[in-house]
Amino acid sequence: MKADPSPLPKIVVLASGSGTNLQALIDASRERNFPGEIIAVGSNRPEAFALERAAQANIDTFVIDHTKFGSREEFDAALLAELHRKNPDVIVLAGFMRILTPDFVRAFRGRMLNIHPSLLPAYTGLNTHQRVLEAGDKVHGVSIHFVTEELDGGPVIAQAEIAVNDNDTPESLAERVLQQEHTLYPIVLRWFCEGRIQLAAGGVQFDGELLPNPMRLSDN
Ligand code: GRF
Repeated sequence: MKADPSPLPKIVVLASGSGTNLQALIDASRERNFPGEIIAVGSNRPEAFALERAAQANIDTFVIDHTKFGSREEFDAALLAELHRKNPDVIVLAGFMRILTPDFVRAFRGRMLNIHPSLLPAYTGLNTHQRVLEAGDKVHGVSIHFVTEELDGGPVIAQAEIAVNDNDTPESLAERVLQQEHTLYPIVLRWFCEGRIQLAAGGVQFDGELLPNPMRLSDN
């Protein structure tokens, strides 16, 4: 009798908004031989379109509405309890607009990824496209990193660049950065599920070697 194939790593995606990154991950995960399974999508916002996308794809959803909790700690405790029930191998933050407490982050150390629309360490926080234009930068992009206690500060796994044009607006930059996000996130999630990337003491290990710099995709 043939032994059962080993189960695929279980992925939970957390999203607060429209969920275009989630959609890219769902589409990738439905391709043949994708090495992981999205078992649930969670949100802090009941109206997030990401939940609709998950439902359309027949993926289990859950909502932990942050407005129903008195403190960040109580919200995080409820989210943590739900995640422990789902027991994922990896948590993918895809436009999840809540700052997580250190205890929460520690519970999933090395198993939680985030995408941020800038070339970290530049421009942590919000309004990155506007700030890039104000600074006159010629290059912009997106980073995918391990989540650590420091906001947008965990070791960066991979980045994709775009060129900034003279006539760019925050909206046009957001659109081109998003296209890169949709390409890069499925690639990085695949690497994670294949066991190729790990959070190590000195940064990110790729195939057992410490990365001297983040992996880079470039459109120019
Ligand atoms: C993306 O720009 C992502 O980098 C940021 O939030 C946005 C989410 O977009 N963290 P979407 O909900 O995936 O469309």
